[in-house]
Amino acid sequence: MAGVSVQAFRRQGRRFGAGLVCSEMVSVAGIQHRNERTLGYLRVGADEHPLAIQIFGSDPSAMAEAARMVEAAGADVVDMNFGCPVKKVTRTGAGASLLDDPDHACRLVEAVAGATALPLSVKMRRGVENGSRTCLAVGPRLVDAGAASLTLHPRSAKQMYTGTADHSLTAELVSLVDVPVIASGDVTSRTRAQTVLATTGAAAVMVGRAAQGNPWALREIMGDETEPTREEVVAELLLFMRETVRELGEHRSFGFLKKFYGWYLGRGRFPRAFKQELVQLPTLAEVEQRLLAAAPGARFVLERLLDEVPDPQDEVLLDALPISLYGGG
Ligand SMILES: Cc1cc2nc3c(=O)[nH]c(=O)nc-3n(C[C@H](O)[C@H](O)[C@H](O)COP(=O)(O)O)c2cc1C
Repeated sequence: MAGVSVQAFRRQGRRFGAGLVCSEMVSVAGIQHRNERTLGYLRVGADEHPLAIQIFGSDPSAMAEAARMVEAAGADVVDMNFGCPVKKVTRTGAGASLLDDPDHACRLVEAVAGATALPLSVKMRRGVENGSRTCLAVGPRLVDAGAASLTLHPRSAKQMYTGTADHSLTAELVSLVDVPVIASGDVTSRTRAQTVLATTGAAAVMVGRAAQGNPWALREIMGDETEPTREEVVAELLLFMRETVRELGEHRSFGFLKKFYGWYLGRGRFPRAFKQELVQLPTLAEVEQRLLAAAPGARFVLERLLDEVPDPQDEVLLDALPISLYGGG
């Protein structure tokens, strides 16, 4: 998820039971131009595997090059975004707009499949227009072009995130292709996950928004219903903050983290006014202090977590990528 699935989010997801995690969508144009921030999305932590890195773009050779970079960065799966509904992306011929140009979509899949030995997955929406069934026509063609799995979020691009995901389309897609289909959309609980799996025949479910600031949703989906204590919630938030600062730097993290306070502390865990107070504090150090004051025992939970999570030094650093991939040699 763009603006959410930073490395700290993915590592946390793995710790809480996710079988596969995915990066934010990474611009192939950014990769082509060696944009520093874009290349930062290709950092892979030792404890993230299996990890998919998702790329988006509309130029076959740039897509192929990006896929080679994704492989060199150490990802386990390269995922292609044919679902992003945001105008800034669709007007460049990328994201969900590719569902309306299946010939070109297939060319992109062929280019990527030919460029990397990694399994290639494609993430789609149902189509661009409301009620569209385009994914059912395009999906099998993408498989013929080289996609090893498909993920369907059965809302239209026009719908953005309104309404509900219509998983009857997921069931239809499953019946049309002989590769695993992953169901994405409105999977928020174990009951919901079981229903979607049983009614669609999908190989897996993908959890998005329900895991934002709430990794315990993943634990619940995997069968452990234990509610987190306030100390556990604060400790996970503090760990997330520290890892995000390490990844994005203090300046970028400050604004980025604000949305996470409500996600972690909501759901009746802390009074609403507490979140309001946190977003107004001027530094992350003060946010940390205030969180520890609200749940002093979190300090010990955090210490235990810090002992448990692998050393960030184990990360595959960008410097380790072959120089030629940067066009520098
Ligand atoms: C903030 C946000 C960012 C997202 N970014 C991406 C993205 O980069 N790539 C992608 O394939 N889907 C993205 N999605 C869509 C989700 O992967 C997922 O398909 C959708 O949210 C429905 O699943 P959910 O109900 O579990 O959230 C994003 C969704 C949200 C809410």
